[in-house]
Amino acid sequence: MTERLRLGCLASGGGSNLQAIIDRCRDGSLAAEISVVISNKPDSGALQRARNAGIPALCIDHRNFPTREDFDRAVVAALLEAGVELIVLAGFMRLISDVFLDAFPGRIMNIHPALLPAFPGLHVQRKALEYGARVTGATVHFVDGGVDTGPIVIQAVVPILDDDTEESLSARILEQEHRIYPRAIELFAQGRLRIDGRRVRIEPPLPPGSEVLVHPPL
Ligand code: GAR
Repeated sequence: MTERLRLGCLASGGGSNLQAIIDRCRDGSLAAEISVVISNKPDSGALQRARNAGIPALCIDHRNFPTREDFDRAVVAALLEAGVELIVLAGFMRLISDVFLDAFPGRIMNIHPALLPAFPGLHVQRKALEYGARVTGATVHFVDGGVDTGPIVIQAVVPILDDDTEESLSARILEQEHRIYPRAIELFAQGRLRIDGRRVRIEPPLPPGSEVLVHPPL
């Protein structure tokens, strides 16, 4: 059997990205396994999804720790205990400190529901709508010390439609998140990602995409 990359997934919310990764690990199309799921929220849907899939699920409630660093030390200890090789932030709504970053250099990925570097931070689907952007999307990136600033692995572009609401746009972005996050993990598992300054090189390179999205169309 081929080696499977050991993942540690962190999530605060409903866990639909986690579910997409669980499904791809299960059907064998992603050579990875989730060793542990950790949430800072006791009632998060992500913990329930993990339990349903028979994956070890831990709640580490940030409110029980006096500082961000203390919380991060507890999370890092649990991830090391589980022997994980890549940390996958899947809707994890906490900033992470140097304690965490230094424990897993170049081994923490995040997904963000916008085309970074546009619209970092929170409520970004609403911000893209309010700004009047014609396209937005989703980004998987390695995590560095900033807020949504790390080297970008893969992005999906989603057009903003005239009748979009924050909910309808978020749902269409999520569909793309579920496609690109497993792909980014797959490329990492295959040892094909090399961080080169701000750029992530894919080795050997993939053929360039030929489609250009223009919205509205020409
Ligand atoms: C996703 O849209 C993800 O991109 C976003 O939270 C949602 C989690 O959904 N993450 C962030 O905004 C991180 N700053 P999920 O719990 O259904 O995967």
